[in-house]
Amino acid sequence: MSVRIAPSILSADLSKLADEIAMLEDGGADWIHIDVMDGRFVPNLTFGAKIIESVRKLTKLSLDVHLMVVQPENYFDDFASAGANGMSIHTEVSPHLQRQLTRIRELGCRAGAVINPATPLSAISEVIADLDLLLVMTVNPGFGGQKFIRNSIDKVRRAREMLARNGSKAYLEVDGGIDRKTIKSVFEAGADTFVAGNAIFSAKNPKAEIEELRSRCTIQV
Ligand code: DX5
Ligand code: ZN
Repeated sequence: MSVRIAPSILSADLSKLADEIAMLEDGGADWIHIDVMDGRFVPNLTFGAKIIESVRKLTKLSLDVHLMVVQPENYFDDFASAGANGMSIHTEVSPHLQRQLTRIRELGCRAGAVINPATPLSAISEVIADLDLLLVMTVNPGFGGQKFIRNSIDKVRRAREMLARNGSKAYLEVDGGIDRKTIKSVFEAGADTFVAGNAIFSAKNPKAEIEELRSRCTIQV
């Protein structure tokens, strides 16, 4: 099974964004994860289309945009034009999830749905065919550097079963508190795409940390 490491630039030093992106590329990052927060769905405020556009100029890596915003559809066109390759929206604020996911695909992007730790998997059960990615949050969204919620491991396992049962090829991503200690448990549960912010950017050697994380995602025989 192929594995993707998606460093989150939420923890990057934005005063040297170009260096940070070059470092991630050098370290073998697969995707760049961009956390968009609106101060409404989550308390924090972060990036918008302008940053996506800037990152787009700095790399050819796939840009995995995580929208922690209410009314995410208001941003789809701008973010797609800015160079997003994937957009993931929270089920908790997406009453017209099927229509919203379809629109993301129409814009040529991977359509992702995100569920918070308290949100059951049933929130996506009727839209599996419309999904290119399912993101199971392993912390409550809003901030980097939070503690991994261990109950998520079983949820990831059930998510993997649900996707398999429905013949879905969607990526199964996890986000929050992913580090050397936690990554293996969610990999073994069936996740294939791993967001990591703090673990990479606070490491002694951030570049090497990407490979460290990846090396823990191997099947033992
Ligand atoms: C949390 C964000 C995450 C965050 C992960 O709200 O969605 O992407 O950057 O950061 P770490 O890896 O530090 O938990
Ligand atoms: Zn995120």
